[in-house]
Amino acid sequence: MKSIRIGIFGLSRGYDNVDSILLNNAEIVAGCDQSEVLRERMKQKLPNIALYDSFDEFLNHDMDAVYLANNFAEHTKFAVRALEKNIHVISECTASGTLAECVELTRAAEKSRAIYMLAENYPYMLFNLEMQKVYKSGKLGKVLFAEGEYNHPVGPDDTYFIRRYEGHEKHWRFYVPATYYITHSLGPLMCATHSNPIRVTAMPIYFPRDDRYATASYVGDNSAIITCLNDDNSVFRVTGCAHFGGHENSYRLACENGQIENVRGDDKVMLRYDPWTTPIGEEQRQFYHPAEDVDDAVRAKKTGHAGGDYYMFKDFFQSIREGTQPCLDAYVATRMSAVAILAHRSLMQYGVPYDVPDFRKEEDRVKYENDRETPFWGNDGSAPTIPCCSHPEFRPSEENLRKYREVFAPEAK
Ligand SMILES: NC(=O)c1ccc[n+]([C@@H]2O[C@H](COP(=O)([O-])OP(=O)(O)OC[C@H]3O[C@@H](n4cnc5c(N)ncnc54)[C@H](O)[C@@H]3O)[C@@H](O)[C@H]2O)c1
Repeated sequence: MKSIRIGIFGLSRGYDNVDSILLNNAEIVAGCDQSEVLRERMKQKLPNIALYDSFDEFLNHDMDAVYLANNFAEHTKFAVRALEKNIHVISECTASGTLAECVELTRAAEKSRAIYMLAENYPYMLFNLEMQKVYKSGKLGKVLFAEGEYNHPVGPDDTYFIRRYEGHEKHWRFYVPATYYITHSLGPLMCATHSNPIRVTAMPIYFPRDDRYATASYVGDNSAIITCLNDDNSVFRVTGCAHFGGHENSYRLACENGQIENVRGDDKVMLRYDPWTTPIGEEQRQFYHPAEDVDDAVRAKKTGHAGGDYYMFKDFFQSIREGTQPCLDAYVATRMSAVAILAHRSLMQYGVPYDVPDFRKEEDRVKYENDRETPFWGNDGSAPTIPCCSHPEFRPSEENLRKYREVFAPEAK
């Protein structure tokens, strides 16, 4: 079988996924980043690949697919360019930073012969794959309620995190509203149930980091609690990226015949029925480690996010080879972006509900095709047009900034 040739755009997260790609027998032929340091690091790992600092030149390289791992809210314009050339796209979250871009992405994906997939890896964690399998078996009946929680606190002294994941003072992580990083909590629920959010509300949990923290963040919201009404009458409650104490991510599908969830603080799942709904031959309450193919397990263990990165690329390459649409196609991806964007608008008004557009419909596209509100600084220097925090006046303290600048001072390196 001919190997798929892929290029990586953005060599920070992009570098982290080199092994996930190679373990799936694809060939990495090109890389692109404006940072010379990151290009050099890539060269050390893969001496034979072509490296670029400009996307235009990178996209002219002969390749079948691109992995977009550049700034969080800037994927769409690059995805559209690749789709126009019928180059397959796997794009990091979020699919689109504005509602206008959601429209542009769905239109481009429809016109293209190439596959578009969101690089949302949490649905591919083993316990989420198990939850999908059990739900799809039909034994639980229809989903009524589901929860998704992505909780990633960062310690006040974690200078590794600041150096690796943050950076300059206008970096997207310092402006990402509490609702925007939603795909790790919502993605696993949508992939399992295929329920589509149609109406959304959100509440902020305002709790800024105190002066112990080295940070330049303009977001004082610790977390957001988001509620979605779906097109099948079910309801989801999810977080964006939450920062409660106690790192974990957890999911629960509560259905007409029973529930399945991953157990907080463990990698087991718990499956429960009622006495009158328990399938013949099964225990009413099951508490187990999901089974895994032995060969896949060996490869998945070498990659990040509990194997989610490996299984995600496996699915992408399979979609390309078989010409099938992945679950995380442009419609699902842009719906998640729209939920995140509209949940932020709701949160700014303490829970006012918003209808989520259906980007399959031209009337919804026309309504949002010029909606370019953004809380981010652009890579081109463009300024935010809306606040990123429920308290728009919130700023990092002088002490936060002093400690943050100290981390990047030359003598600290
Ligand atoms: N799924 C996951 O588990 C996971 C984990 C980490 C990051 N991510 C996602 O990956 C993406 C990147 O995250 P990160 O932490 O690596 O961010 P980052 O800001 O550290 O890296 C982005 C890289 O893209 C480069 N870049 C941006 N615009 C460019 C341009 N126009 N031309 C050339 N290079 C450009 C930057 O120089 C930078 O090196 C984000 O979308 C983030 O949400 C996902």
